[in-house]
Amino acid sequence: RDFTIAIDGPAASGKSSTARAVAQELGFGYIDSGSIYRCATLLALRNNIASDIDKHWPELIDLIGKTGVEIKIQPNSNRSLSVVAAKTGRLVVPSVQILLDGEDVSNDIRTPEVNRLVAKVASDGGVRSAVLNIQRSLAANADTKATETQGNGKDPHVIPGGVVMDGRDVGTTVFPNAELKIYLDASAMARAIRRWDEMNSQLKNKQTEEAARKQENKADTSVPVEYPSVEDIARELEQRDYADINRQHSPLRIAPDAVVIDNTNLTFEQQVYSITDLARE
Ligand code: C5P
Repeated sequence: RDFTIAIDGPAASGKSSTARAVAQELGFGYIDSGSIYRCATLLALRNNIASDIDKHWPELIDLIGKTGVEIKIQPNSNRSLSVVAAKTGRLVVPSVQILLDGEDVSNDIRTPEVNRLVAKVASDGGVRSAVLNIQRSLAANADTKATETQGNGKDPHVIPGGVVMDGRDVGTTVFPNAELKIYLDASAMARAIRRWDEMNSQLKNKQTEEAARKQENKADTSVPVEYPSVEDIARELEQRDYADINRQHSPLRIAPDAVVIDNTNLTFEQQVYSITDLARE
Protein backbone atom coordinates (compact mmCIF):
# COMPACT_ATOMS: atom_id res chain seq x y z
CA ARG A 1 0.00 0.00 0.00
CA ASP A 2 1.43 3.32 -1.03
CA PHE A 3 -1.06 5.91 0.10
CA THR A 4 -3.31 6.10 3.15
CA ILE A 5 -6.04 8.70 3.62
CA ALA A 6 -7.38 9.03 7.16
CA ILE A 7 -10.75 10.79 7.55
CA ASP A 8 -11.76 11.48 11.14
CA GLY A 9 -14.48 13.59 12.71
CA PRO A 10 -17.58 13.61 14.92
CA ALA A 11 -20.70 11.51 14.35
CA ALA A 12 -22.69 12.19 11.17
CA SER A 13 -20.17 14.68 9.76
CA GLY A 14 -20.38 12.91 6.38
CA LYS A 15 -17.18 10.88 6.78
CA SER A 16 -18.53 7.64 5.40
CA SER A 17 -20.14 8.90 2.19
CA THR A 18 -17.21 11.25 1.57
CA ALA A 19 -14.65 8.50 2.18
CA ARG A 20 -16.53 6.11 -0.15
CA ALA A 21 -16.67 8.72 -2.91
CA VAL A 22 -12.98 9.55 -2.48
CA ALA A 23 -12.07 5.84 -2.57
CA GLN A 24 -14.12 5.26 -5.70
CA GLU A 25 -12.69 8.35 -7.40
CA LEU A 26 -9.09 7.34 -6.67
CA GLY A 27 -9.57 3.59 -7.14
CA PHE A 28 -8.61 3.02 -3.49
CA GLY A 29 -9.87 0.47 -0.99
CA TYR A 30 -12.33 1.72 1.65
CA ILE A 31 -12.58 0.81 5.33
CA ASP A 32 -15.34 2.12 7.58
CA SER A 33 -13.85 1.71 11.04
CA GLY A 34 -17.08 2.75 12.81
CA SER A 35 -18.74 -0.32 11.30
CA ILE A 36 -16.19 -2.57 13.05
CA TYR A 37 -17.07 -1.02 16.44
CA ARG A 38 -20.73 -1.44 15.46
CA CYS A 39 -20.11 -5.15 14.69
CA ALA A 40 -18.48 -5.53 18.11
CA THR A 41 -21.59 -3.93 19.66
CA LEU A 42 -23.88 -6.27 17.71
CA LEU A 43 -21.85 -9.23 19.02
CA ALA A 44 -22.42 -8.00 22.58
CA LEU A 45 -26.18 -7.64 21.99
CA ARG A 46 -26.55 -11.00 20.28
CA ASN A 47 -24.61 -12.80 23.00
CA ASN A 48 -26.70 -11.20 25.76
CA ILE A 49 -23.76 -9.53 27.47
CA ALA A 50 -24.74 -5.96 26.53
CA SER A 51 -26.80 -5.13 29.62
CA ASP A 52 -23.90 -5.69 32.03
CA ILE A 53 -21.04 -5.23 29.58
CA ASP A 54 -18.62 -4.04 32.28
CA LYS A 55 -18.49 -7.61 33.60
CA HIS A 56 -17.97 -9.14 30.16
CA TRP A 57 -15.12 -7.31 28.41
CA PRO A 58 -12.84 -10.40 28.13
CA GLU A 59 -15.72 -12.40 26.64
CA LEU A 60 -16.47 -9.70 24.08
CA ILE A 61 -12.80 -9.27 23.15
CA ASP A 62 -12.62 -13.04 22.62
CA LEU A 63 -15.72 -12.92 20.38
CA ILE A 64 -14.26 -10.06 18.30
CA GLY A 65 -11.05 -12.01 17.78
CA LYS A 66 -12.98 -15.08 16.59
CA THR A 67 -15.37 -13.33 14.22
CA GLY A 68 -14.60 -12.39 10.62
CA VAL A 69 -15.46 -8.84 9.51
CA GLU A 70 -15.56 -7.95 5.82
CA ILE A 71 -16.28 -4.59 4.21
CA LYS A 72 -17.39 -4.76 0.57
CA ILE A 73 -17.72 -1.63 -1.51
CA GLN A 74 -20.25 -1.77 -4.37
CA PRO A 75 -20.31 -1.27 -7.27
CA ASN A 76 -16.81 -2.47 -7.78
CA SER A 77 -16.61 -0.73 -11.11
CA ASN A 78 -13.30 0.56 -12.37
CA ARG A 79 -14.74 3.85 -13.51
CA SER A 80 -13.91 6.86 -11.46
CA LEU A 81 -16.76 8.86 -9.96
CA SER A 82 -16.04 11.97 -11.97
CA VAL A 83 -16.28 10.00 -15.21
CA VAL A 84 -19.72 8.75 -14.12
CA ALA A 85 -20.64 12.25 -12.88
CA ALA A 86 -19.68 13.79 -16.22
CA LYS A 87 -22.29 11.50 -17.81
CA THR A 88 -25.03 11.74 -15.18
CA GLY A 89 -24.41 15.20 -13.74
CA ARG A 90 -24.03 14.00 -10.18
CA LEU A 91 -21.84 11.89 -7.95
CA VAL A 92 -23.33 8.53 -7.09
CA VAL A 93 -21.79 7.19 -3.93
CA PRO A 94 -21.05 3.47 -3.97
CA SER A 95 -22.83 1.50 -1.28
CA VAL A 96 -21.07 -0.66 1.27
CA GLN A 97 -21.92 -4.08 2.65
CA ILE A 98 -20.70 -5.18 6.07
CA LEU A 99 -20.37 -8.92 6.61
CA LEU A 100 -19.99 -10.59 9.98
CA ASP A 101 -18.82 -14.19 9.49
CA GLY A 102 -20.34 -13.99 6.01
CA GLU A 103 -23.75 -12.66 7.18
CA ASP A 104 -24.83 -9.27 5.83
CA VAL A 105 -25.33 -7.11 8.94
CA SER A 106 -25.34 -3.73 7.13
CA ASN A 107 -28.80 -2.85 8.56
CA ASP A 108 -28.45 -4.62 11.92
CA ILE A 109 -25.46 -2.47 12.92
CA ARG A 110 -27.38 0.81 12.42
CA THR A 111 -30.30 0.29 14.82
CA PRO A 112 -31.02 2.77 17.66
CA GLU A 113 -29.95 0.03 20.09
CA VAL A 114 -26.48 -0.18 18.53
CA ASN A 115 -26.28 3.64 18.30
CA ARG A 116 -26.89 3.88 22.05
CA LEU A 117 -24.28 1.30 23.05
CA VAL A 118 -21.47 1.66 20.51
CA ALA A 119 -19.54 4.53 22.18
CA LYS A 120 -19.49 2.55 25.45
CA VAL A 121 -18.14 -0.54 23.65
CA ALA A 122 -15.55 1.64 21.87
CA SER A 123 -14.36 3.09 25.20
CA ASP A 124 -12.76 -0.18 26.35
CA GLY A 125 -9.00 -0.42 25.76
CA GLY A 126 -9.11 -4.19 25.09
CA VAL A 127 -11.89 -3.81 22.53
CA ARG A 128 -9.91 -1.02 20.83
CA SER A 129 -6.80 -3.24 20.53
CA ALA A 130 -8.88 -6.05 19.03
CA VAL A 131 -10.49 -3.65 16.55
CA LEU A 132 -7.09 -2.10 15.75
CA ASN A 133 -5.87 -5.53 14.60
CA ILE A 134 -8.89 -5.83 12.30
CA GLN A 135 -8.41 -2.29 10.94
CA ARG A 136 -4.76 -2.87 10.10
CA SER A 137 -5.31 -6.30 8.57
CA LEU A 138 -8.24 -5.06 6.43
CA ALA A 139 -6.03 -2.19 5.24
CA ALA A 140 -3.12 -4.52 4.48
CA ASN A 141 -5.40 -6.76 2.42
CA ALA A 142 -7.49 -4.02 0.79
CA ASP A 143 -8.03 -4.32 -2.93
CA THR A 144 -6.02 -1.36 -4.16
CA LYS A 145 -4.44 -0.58 -7.43
CA ALA A 146 -2.53 2.21 -9.06
CA THR A 147 -4.95 4.12 -11.27
CA GLU A 148 -4.88 6.79 -13.88
CA THR A 149 -7.57 9.24 -12.92
CA GLN A 150 -9.03 12.16 -14.75
CA GLY A 151 -10.94 13.78 -11.94
CA ASN A 152 -12.20 17.31 -11.68
CA GLY A 153 -11.24 18.41 -15.16
CA LYS A 154 -7.54 18.05 -14.36
CA ASP A 155 -4.93 16.39 -16.52
CA PRO A 156 -4.74 12.61 -16.30
CA HIS A 157 -2.58 11.75 -13.39
CA VAL A 158 -1.22 8.45 -12.16
CA ILE A 159 -1.58 7.92 -8.44
CA PRO A 160 -0.45 4.88 -6.50
CA GLY A 161 -2.79 2.31 -4.95
CA GLY A 162 -4.08 3.14 -1.51
CA VAL A 163 -6.76 2.98 1.10
CA VAL A 164 -9.23 5.42 2.65
CA MET A 165 -10.24 4.75 6.26
CA ASP A 166 -12.75 6.80 8.22
CA GLY A 167 -13.31 6.89 11.97
CA ARG A 168 -12.36 8.83 15.10
CA ASP A 169 -8.69 7.98 15.67
CA VAL A 170 -7.43 6.88 12.26
CA GLY A 171 -5.00 9.80 11.79
CA THR A 172 -3.93 9.83 15.46
CA THR A 173 -3.69 6.14 16.42
CA VAL A 174 -4.44 3.67 13.63
CA PHE A 175 -2.28 5.25 10.92
CA PRO A 176 -0.30 8.11 12.51
CA ASN A 177 1.90 8.14 9.37
CA ALA A 178 -1.00 8.43 6.90
CA GLU A 179 -0.02 10.48 3.83
CA LEU A 180 -3.19 12.57 4.02
CA LYS A 181 -5.27 13.29 7.11
CA ILE A 182 -8.65 15.00 6.98
CA TYR A 183 -10.73 16.13 9.94
CA LEU A 184 -14.31 16.48 8.68
CA ASP A 185 -16.66 18.61 10.74
CA ALA A 186 -20.06 20.29 10.42
CA SER A 187 -22.32 22.21 12.80
CA ALA A 188 -24.27 20.05 15.27
CA MET A 189 -27.58 21.11 13.70
CA ALA A 190 -26.43 20.36 10.14
CA ARG A 191 -25.29 16.90 11.24
CA ALA A 192 -28.57 16.13 13.04
CA ILE A 193 -30.69 17.30 10.08
CA ARG A 194 -28.67 15.21 7.62
CA ARG A 195 -28.98 12.09 9.74
CA TRP A 196 -32.72 12.75 10.14
CA ASP A 197 -33.09 13.13 6.34
CA GLU A 198 -31.23 9.86 5.86
CA MET A 199 -33.56 8.04 8.28
CA ASN A 200 -36.65 9.50 6.64
CA SER A 201 -35.62 8.38 3.18
CA GLN A 202 -34.96 4.91 4.59
CA LEU A 203 -38.46 4.96 6.11
CA LYS A 204 -39.95 6.02 2.75
CA ASN A 205 -38.16 3.14 0.98
CA LYS A 206 -39.51 0.75 3.59
CA GLN A 207 -43.04 2.04 3.12
CA THR A 208 -42.79 1.68 -0.67
CA GLU A 209 -41.52 -1.88 -0.26
CA GLU A 210 -44.37 -2.69 2.15
CA ALA A 211 -46.98 -1.23 -0.20
CA ALA A 212 -45.57 -3.37 -3.03
CA ARG A 213 -45.67 -6.45 -0.82
CA LYS A 214 -49.30 -5.79 0.12
CA GLN A 215 -50.23 -5.38 -3.54
CA GLU A 216 -48.74 -8.78 -4.23
CA ASN A 217 -50.92 -10.09 -1.39
CA LYS A 218 -47.94 -11.32 0.51
CA ALA A 219 -48.15 -11.34 4.28
CA ASP A 220 -46.70 -8.22 5.84
CA THR A 221 -44.30 -9.49 8.48
CA SER A 222 -42.42 -6.25 9.04
CA VAL A 223 -42.44 -4.58 12.42
CA PRO A 224 -43.33 -0.87 12.30
CA VAL A 225 -40.30 1.28 13.08
CA GLU A 226 -40.57 4.48 15.08
CA TYR A 227 -38.26 7.15 13.81
CA PRO A 228 -36.90 9.71 16.25
CA SER A 229 -37.31 13.49 15.94
CA VAL A 230 -34.46 15.83 14.89
CA GLU A 231 -34.10 16.78 18.57
CA ASP A 232 -33.74 13.11 19.58
CA ILE A 233 -31.07 12.60 16.93
CA ALA A 234 -29.22 15.78 17.94
CA ARG A 235 -29.17 14.54 21.55
CA GLU A 236 -27.94 11.08 20.55
CA LEU A 237 -25.12 12.54 18.41
CA GLU A 238 -24.14 14.94 21.19
CA GLN A 239 -23.94 12.10 23.75
CA ARG A 240 -21.88 9.93 21.40
CA ASP A 241 -19.47 12.81 20.59
CA TYR A 242 -19.11 13.58 24.30
CA ALA A 243 -18.22 9.94 25.01
CA ASP A 244 -15.81 9.78 22.03
CA ILE A 245 -14.00 13.02 23.01
CA ASN A 246 -13.77 12.22 26.72
CA ARG A 247 -12.80 8.55 26.75
CA GLN A 248 -9.41 7.48 28.06
CA HIS A 249 -8.19 5.41 25.08
CA SER A 250 -7.52 7.21 21.76
CA PRO A 251 -10.22 9.85 22.12
CA LEU A 252 -11.50 11.86 19.15
CA ARG A 253 -8.87 14.55 18.43
CA ILE A 254 -7.75 16.63 15.46
CA ALA A 255 -4.32 15.27 14.42
CA PRO A 256 -1.78 18.16 14.37
CA ASP A 257 -1.10 17.52 10.66
CA ALA A 258 -4.74 17.09 9.63
CA VAL A 259 -6.51 19.36 7.14
CA VAL A 260 -9.75 20.51 8.77
CA ILE A 261 -12.74 20.71 6.43
CA ASP A 262 -16.00 22.14 7.78
CA ASN A 263 -18.63 21.02 5.30
CA THR A 264 -21.64 22.82 6.83
CA ASN A 265 -21.83 25.07 3.77
CA LEU A 266 -20.10 22.90 1.15
CA THR A 267 -21.78 20.78 -1.49
CA PHE A 268 -20.94 17.09 -1.46
CA GLU A 269 -19.00 17.49 -4.73
CA GLN A 270 -16.96 20.38 -3.29
CA GLN A 271 -15.81 18.41 -0.27
CA VAL A 272 -15.06 15.22 -2.22
CA TYR A 273 -13.02 17.03 -4.85
CA SER A 274 -11.18 19.12 -2.26
CA ILE A 275 -9.92 15.85 -0.77
CA THR A 276 -9.07 14.14 -4.08
CA ASP A 277 -7.24 17.34 -5.13
CA LEU A 278 -5.15 17.18 -1.94
CA ALA A 279 -4.39 13.49 -2.63
CA ARG A 280 -3.24 14.27 -6.15
CA GLU A 281 -0.95 17.12 -5.11
O1 C5P B 1 -18.62 6.26 12.43
P1 C5P B 1 -19.72 5.65 13.27
O2 C5P B 1 -20.72 6.65 13.72
O3 C5P B 1 -20.35 4.46 12.61
O4 C5P B 1 -18.97 5.11 14.56
C1 C5P B 1 -19.66 4.49 15.62
C2 C5P B 1 -18.87 4.62 16.92
O5 C5P B 1 -17.70 3.81 16.85
C3 C5P B 1 -18.36 6.01 17.27
O6 C5P B 1 -19.34 6.79 17.93
C4 C5P B 1 -17.18 5.69 18.18
O7 C5P B 1 -17.61 5.46 19.50
C5 C5P B 1 -16.65 4.40 17.61
N1 C5P B 1 -15.47 4.60 16.76
C6 C5P B 1 -14.25 4.77 17.37
N2 C5P B 1 -13.10 4.89 16.63
C7 C5P B 1 -13.16 4.85 15.29
C8 C5P B 1 -14.40 4.71 14.63
C9 C5P B 1 -15.55 4.60 15.41
O8 C5P B 1 -14.18 4.83 18.60
N3 C5P B 1 -12.02 4.93 14.57
